Amino acid sequence: MKLYFENNFNGLPAAFTEAGIRSGRIAVVGDTNTLPLYGEPAADVLKGIFREVHLFAFPAGEEHKNLSSVESLYAFLLDRHFDRKDVILALGGGVVGDMAGFAAATYLRGIRVVQCPTTLLAQVDSSIGGKTGVDFMGYKNMIGAFHMPEFVYMNTGTLATLPEEQFSSGMGEVLKSAVLGDADFWKWLLANAGAIKDKDPDAVLTMVRRTAGIKEAIVLRDPKEQGERALLNLGHTIGHAVEKYRDFSMPHGHCVAVGTAASGYISAGRGLLSRKELDEVIRAERLFDLPVSAGTIDTEAILGFTKSDKKMSAGRIRFILFDRIGHAFIADDVTDDELRRAISAISGDGSL
Ligand SMILES: NC(=O)c1ccc[n+]([C@@H]2O[C@H](COP(=O)([O-])OP(=O)(O)OC[C@H]3O[C@@H](n4cnc5c(N)ncnc54)[C@H](O)[C@@H]3O)[C@@H](O)[C@H]2O)c1
Repeated sequence: MKLYFENNFNGLPAAFTEAGIRSGRIAVVGDTNTLPLYGEPAADVLKGIFREVHLFAFPAGEEHKNLSSVESLYAFLLDRHFDRKDVILALGGGVVGDMAGFAAATYLRGIRVVQCPTTLLAQVDSSIGGKTGVDFMGYKNMIGAFHMPEFVYMNTGTLATLPEEQFSSGMGEVLKSAVLGDADFWKWLLANAGAIKDKDPDAVLTMVRRTAGIKEAIVLRDPKEQGERALLNLGHTIGHAVEKYRDFSMPHGHCVAVGTAASGYISAGRGLLSRKELDEVIRAERLFDLPVSAGTIDTEAILGFTKSDKKMSAGRIRFILFDRIGHAFIADDVTDDELRRAISAISGDGSL
């Protein structure tokens, strides 16, 4: 799974050639926001190598991340006689990537997919690692498959049109990645905060490259989440619970930021993390305009949601803690009282 980092689409044909894909049909699959913005520019460069280039859009939004949206893509592919030699290019955020990837995993028992993510969250996280799927009966990502992309092509130029809230949501995953595995990158982020917030193209490209590299290295060592890959769930157990409690009205990366802070409280409560480092994490989240509090929440309800999260092993929550910035580990002995204390630390107005 090769990753490309560019700030335009010009390198896309060469990436396909390098992957040995140079003929047949391609479906450029976006959503009703990304396809009007980037469908034609992407299709234009692909016309040189593909016999047929087709464009398809899902309705935008998590509420459309379901089997019936995927079915409409199956029908589109079937109508145009797509066969096993043909390719899907997922051109959008994590919702498009997950659904187009799942359609590719299952159409004709599997065709090739290339991920071309257009949100910060998708560039640093969801497009890497081959997890695909849809939401089902109120549960997120309940139905899915592992299906590795042929390659991932990040065009950081597309982030120019991303709404501010979506950019800051992606920052939640960026900070989480540095906390779990790269102390040098953490320092770099703090030193370059101004340039990143100003969307300086070079700073953003470097940030995407370094964050994606953290996930890529972990996924290569543990593709099916048998062990180490779980570290990427730092901030996600309480984060997902908050997301569910807020009925998905709070952006995912913001919930991850709150969850990462909660993990810091548990780690510090165990005496593993210094108060100074915990404060540094909270300050950095604030610096990047991320929430460090979930507002007024019902502790028992959040606790209940953490138990229904998928990240359980034999009935125990596999929680991710960190003992310094840049080093996370899996703990399966986090108690309900520790969770309650962390949940109350992230409730209220965030004045900690
Ligand atoms: N597969 C994985 O490993 C993995 C990991 C993390 C998250 N996810 C999934 O990712 C999804 C969230 O992804 P997301 O945050 O990218 O949300 P998203 O795909 O819904 O995109 C957010 C919004 O931004 C719009 N958009 C996308 N790119 C744009 C651009 N360049 N300019 C303007 N608008 C643009 C989209 O149309 C959408 O309205 C969730 O469904 C989550 O479950 C998957």
